Parts: sequence; C-alpha cells; structure tokens
Amino acid sequence: MTQKMFITNAAQLITMAGSTDGPATREAMSQLNLIEDGSLFMEDGKIVEAGPDKEIREKYQEHFQSAEQIDATGKIVAPGLVDPHTHLVHAGTRENEYAMRLKGRTYMDIMQAGGGIHATTRATQQASHEQLYDESKKRLNQFLLHGVTTVEAKSGYGLTLEHELKQLEVAEQLNNDHPVDLVSTFMGAHAIPMDEKNNPDKFVDRVIQEMLPEVADKKLAVFNDVFCERGVFTPEQSRRVLEAGKEYGLIPKIHADEIEPYEGAELAASIGAISADHLLKASENGIKKMAEAGVVGVLLPGTAFFLMAEFAEARKMIDAGVAVALSTDANPGSSPTISLPFIMNLGCLKMGMTPEEVLTATTINAAHAIGCASEVGSLESGKKADVTIFDVPNYLTLSYKYGMNHVDTVVKAGIPLVR
Ligand code: NIG
Ligand code: FE
Repeated sequence: MTQKMFITNAAQLITMAGSTDGPATREAMSQLNLIEDGSLFMEDGKIVEAGPDKEIREKYQEHFQSAEQIDATGKIVAPGLVDPHTHLVHAGTRENEYAMRLKGRTYMDIMQAGGGIHATTRATQQASHEQLYDESKKRLNQFLLHGVTTVEAKSGYGLTLEHELKQLEVAEQLNNDHPVDLVSTFMGAHAIPMDEKNNPDKFVDRVIQEMLPEVADKKLAVFNDVFCERGVFTPEQSRRVLEAGKEYGLIPKIHADEIEPYEGAELAASIGAISADHLLKASENGIKKMAEAGVVGVLLPGTAFFLMAEFAEARKMIDAGVAVALSTDANPGSSPTISLPFIMNLGCLKMGMTPEEVLTATTINAAHAIGCASEVGSLESGKKADVTIFDVPNYLTLSYKYGMNHVDTVVKAGIPLVR
C-alpha cells in the first residue's frame, strides 16, 4: 500500500527550490520560490510535486480519494526546518552560571575555573546511556514541536574515548528511534580536560590517535569539529585535529572566532571545512576567504544574545558572498534554546538579515552546512516529505509576531506528527 498525502491551498507555499547543487549566496538567498495558493503532493515519504493548487489537483486527481489531505488555507507551508549546529546530547543544566554571568562573570572565566564545558562534561560522564538518551529525547521532541525535522548533533562533553562514544551512540539511537533525523559530528576537541590543562598537545594527540580512529571505525560521525579559540585550541592544534579527521573521511567543521578574532575563518577556508560556525569576531580577510572557498557560515545569534555579546556581521558576510545558515547552537551554557524560529527573529532584528534570507538560512543553506541538501531543505520532487505548516497568513508574520511558536503541523517523511 502506498501512502499518499496532499497539503492544499496554502496561502504561501515556500518551496526554496533551486539551490540543491550549492548553497544560496547573495541575491539567491532572497529567492523563496514562493507559490501563492499552492499545493503539495507526496507519496511514500517523498515529495512528488509542489505547484499551484489548481494544477496539482488536476494532475494528481486520480489520487485524491485515497490520499490523506491537509487543508492549509490561511497558513504557510515550508520545508521542515534544519538545525545545522547543536550540542543536543548532554546531561544537566547550568542556570547557576547564567546567574553568575548576570552579575558580571564571563563565559570564558567560568570555563577556565572549571565550570562551563567542564561542568557539563562531568555531568555527561556520570550519566548513563539511558539517562542521556531520555534527556536528549525531550529536547528533540521540542525541536520537532518548533518545526525542525533535521538536527546536527555534536559530541564533546565526553572528552574521553568511552564517553565520547557514549554520546555518539545516544545520537545514533535517537536517529533510529525518533522521527527527527540526526546528523552526527565528533567534537572530541571541544575543551582541554582540567587535569590536562598544562599539557594540551598530549590531549590533542589522544583525540587524534585514540578517539578519531574509533569514531570513524564505528561510523558514528560524518563531521569532525573543534573549538578553535584563545585558551582552548590554537589554530595550529585545530588544524592538526581537522587534518587527522580528513584522513578518516570525516569532514571538517570549526567553532571559529566566537569570543576573540583568532583566524578561525581563515583556517576553515584553507582546510576545506564544510562550515565555519559562530564567527562573531571573524576578520574581513577571513570572511573573504570563506566566500572564495565556499565555506558555509553558520551563525548562532542565540549565543550572542545569551552571552550578551556583539552579533556576527551577517549582512557583511552575505554581501561578501558567504552562504549563511542559522542555528540554535542548542547547549546548556551559551544557548539553552531549541527554538529555531526565535533564532530567525534574531537574524532579522539583530543581524540585519531579511525575512527571506532567514528562511533560506534555516532550510536549504542549513542543509548544505550538514551535507544533506540533496535530501532535505526544499520542497522539490524526490526529496523527503519533511514539511512544516505555520499558522500565519504570510512568511513576514513569522518574525513579526516574535517569540511565539506558530507551528501548526509538522509532516515528517510523509507522516503528520505534530497537529
Ligand atoms: O558552541 N563554544 C563552544 N561550545 C559551545 C558551548 C558549549 C557549552 O558552553 O557548554 C558553543 O557555544
Ligand atoms: Fe557550538
């Protein structure tokens, strides 16, 4: 039995068609390929066609009786959102540090004193696989409720082979059990463990010699990420980790220029990273190099908001030709949110992006940032039937009525889940 579904009469059907070969840059970031009064026909979890309501009804008339139908009158229909940078799998929370920062302590100072990433590492090391699974699954449910159908998830709170594998195994199990798709990134180089503070190169050796081979052998990750930041990993150490990952087929990603300018964007370009993320302090030269090398800039305005820092210069990056994507950076320290729609609001109100650009940045460009643009990120024939319906009459209202969840229905692989 085939499973068929129509979504009909959308006030605006935002297809994002056209950027499957490479991410959208410059003017292409404003092209939504929007159909007014649009409809979508899906079969067996895949999109068959998106088009004007009248045309789709006529063309697929014979399927109408046997198909499930969702009437989207007065609503907008978009590709399921893609979050390309999260620290989904972790244990515990850090609201105590939030309170400390409100009184003037800084994020890096708390981390150097053994809190921050180290605090979550302790909690994650102590957690059983089941506990980690349960906590992370709750967050994944929340992602789905906010219209997100694909999520990248990093390790990096284990910092030993055993616990890094545990995090990645939890992500793998969630990917198997949960309707939201997960794409895994190994991030053994997320922090230098407190007891190896004075011997960072030894820890880098362990990441390269002990952890990377096992992660690759068990096929637990697609990407390899590193926190390149003063006081964490130097550009040289970061390069070593990313080069080593490439030997095992892991594609480089990088946490770059988050707190201080540190030539992270330049490193991303020269090493052929698929994305460079954060970029609050990226240099002009780094931005230029990223545009030339086709590195996607994954911007995380929730982190700037929550750390009370300056926002990344999205406008400058887009104008320089960088393909920009947006993400929550969901994690317990610098961005404890799962709301990608709120991140879209911040993109508009704090980074000078347009409502069209933030849609591109959370769909097709986000999919490019995690290498799955041939499957998700736009409503085009043959792609996964991952669709989010928002109960707003037009896409401008998504960021105009801010801080609210406008999700009406989420269809994942052709199955309506949230309604
Ligand atoms: O992307 N910057 C490094 N890593 C995370 C934060 C991790 C944490 O604070 O727990 C980030 O902001
Ligand atoms: Fe991050």
